[in-house]
Amino acid sequence: MSYCNIFDTHAHYDDKWFDEDRAETLSSVKESGVSAIVNCACDFNSSLTTLALSEKYDFIFSALGVHPETDPEIAYSDFEKIKGLYCRKKVVAVGEIGLDYHWDTMPRKMQKDIFEKQIILAKQLDLPIIVHDREAHADTLEILSRHKPKGVLHCFGGSVEMAKDILKLDMYIGLGGVVTFKNARKSVEVAEMIPLDRLLLETDCPYMAPVPFRGKRCDSSLIAHTAEFIAKLRGISTQELIDICNSNAKKLFNIE
Ligand code: NI
Repeated sequence: MSYCNIFDTHAHYDDKWFDEDRAETLSSVKESGVSAIVNCACDFNSSLTTLALSEKYDFIFSALGVHPETDPEIAYSDFEKIKGLYCRKKVVAVGEIGLDYHWDTMPRKMQKDIFEKQIILAKQLDLPIIVHDREAHADTLEILSRHKPKGVLHCFGGSVEMAKDILKLDMYIGLGGVVTFKNARKSVEVAEMIPLDRLLLETDCPYMAPVPFRGKRCDSSLIAHTAEFIAKLRGISTQELIDICNSNAKKLFNIE
């Protein structure tokens, strides 16, 4: 089946995995019905490569921020340097930012501090945030509840209870290829219960390819498989789901 109007709300096309064939991949992605992509940076350098992509391609938008897996030696100075980039065209979010207690690259106190500083900045700039939460649900929720930013919890891996808490904060939930994995019971439950006006589709490409491409390099065209899977759970057509998620994304990122 082919679809149109696909909005990939979370991608990393500046990743070196795309170095060999980035231009070809992006043109085939566009031909396969992808109409918009938010490319998410992780630090200062990837903020520059993200901006270069959104300047080159009309359908790519930028999210700029310091990811919790950033080297602690440069995290604060990257945060300061990125501040000067939010005035650039097509910057639609602060991201990806958050907490990662799986890798613990930075001390947790520092992760929380940088996360909060970026949320405060996003609110000043009136931009939504794109949140990464790995094995840090309680602290993520505590910080979000205190600041109440606009935004999305990307690659959502929490329980239905956590999803309800996020929805109460008026935030969106991003679902990607993980929902199609055999062991993704929690994500499937979330995909079944989430109000459709709060759902965003994403890839996190080049990672997280949906079944039947699990483990291979992912690109935005593979969202079709994730969308087919969720649409079936919800009893609506895949194109209908894609259209709803597209308008959700445009609303959140203030596009058009
Ligand atoms: Ni990501």
